[in-house]
Amino acid sequence: MPWEPLPVGAADAPRFADLIFAGMRAGLLDLREQGPRIAFALEADANPIGLIYGEIEDSRTGHVRSIFVKPEHRRRGAAGALLRAIENEFRIRGCSEMRIAYVTGKPSTEAVEKLLRAAGWNDPQPDTLFCRVDERMANWWAYRKQNWLTEDFTLFDWTDLTAADREHILRTQAESPWIPEDLVPFQYEQNLEPLNSFGLRFKGEVAGWMITHRLDRDTIRYTCSFMRGDLQKRFRIAPIYQEAYRRQSEAGIPYALFMVPYRHPAMVNFTKRHWVGKFATAYESRTCSRPLAAPLAEAVLKVQTHAI
Ligand SMILES: CC(C)(COP(=O)(O)OP(=O)(O)OC[C@H]1O[C@@H](n2cnc3c(N)ncnc32)[C@H](O)[C@@H]1OP(=O)(O)O)[C@@H](O)C(=O)NCCC(=O)NCCS
Repeated sequence: MPWEPLPVGAADAPRFADLIFAGMRAGLLDLREQGPRIAFALEADANPIGLIYGEIEDSRTGHVRSIFVKPEHRRRGAAGALLRAIENEFRIRGCSEMRIAYVTGKPSTEAVEKLLRAAGWNDPQPDTLFCRVDERMANWWAYRKQNWLTEDFTLFDWTDLTAADREHILRTQAESPWIPEDLVPFQYEQNLEPLNSFGLRFKGEVAGWMITHRLDRDTIRYTCSFMRGDLQKRFRIAPIYQEAYRRQSEAGIPYALFMVPYRHPAMVNFTKRHWVGKFATAYESRTCSRPLAAPLAEAVLKVQTHAI
């Protein structure tokens, strides 16, 4: 059966709200004519069975944020038809490329990758390694090693960071940057997990930190960890991980989620080699893009003639 995706407008968006994952639902329910959000849907016997949702960024990149087909209608080309419909709309709206992000290790990963390959997308690129650490971490050599830190180091709860500490970090960072931008702690303080968000002082000055967030009852995300460059020796960040995990383990929270961006390849390799399979399971997010040619020349010509 040939699929005919229908554009979704603000009025009928609620009918399709079950076909998008929760994080994107607010965007679907806020569709506006000629706005940056776009959706197409498929129906069978007047029932919603598939939805694709995307957003245009900077007037040039069309992001596919969600694609879903009800299980009983899969493997019949429905997703391919939805993808073609949104691609066409992105092109009409002047986008020069489209992008999608997805994670590996899910039941649909193979289908997503086949779908993109068949539609001529570029090869997927790994973006972030997600590493879920469990209780086996307690047997890790670095966890068992004692006395990592000399008496020059002291730990403190991040919630006890003083105004003077904060001012010192900001001022020294402005004078001569010593923290990579993505590891500056203040951007991650909202809703931090007080249990194991802490700092490390060296001779009284803040020189490292771990900022964490609670994802669910059993899992804490290690959002941002850092140790000042001149203090980093071989894996000197280890005592920070050790302390963070000790605290959550004592509180009965078994899992820690680390996210390692692929732009730090040494960290990715380290994590894969020493953690994955020993006390962690891993999956990764990937991004995939596809250049979009301009709309058909005759359509452009028509617009130009009209303008003249
Ligand atoms: C991914 C998904 C949208 C595919 O929908 P679909 O309608 O079954 O896809 P299509 O029928 O258009 O098939 C696309 C390709 O994937 C292949 N495929 C589909 N399901 C597959 C599966 N379970 N295993 C292997 N290949 C699969 C098809 O054979 C086809 O490849 P081909 O053209 O080489 O034959 C659907 O599985 C789904 O809704 N999954 C859950 C949501 C999700 O994970 N979305 C992606 C992240 S946003």
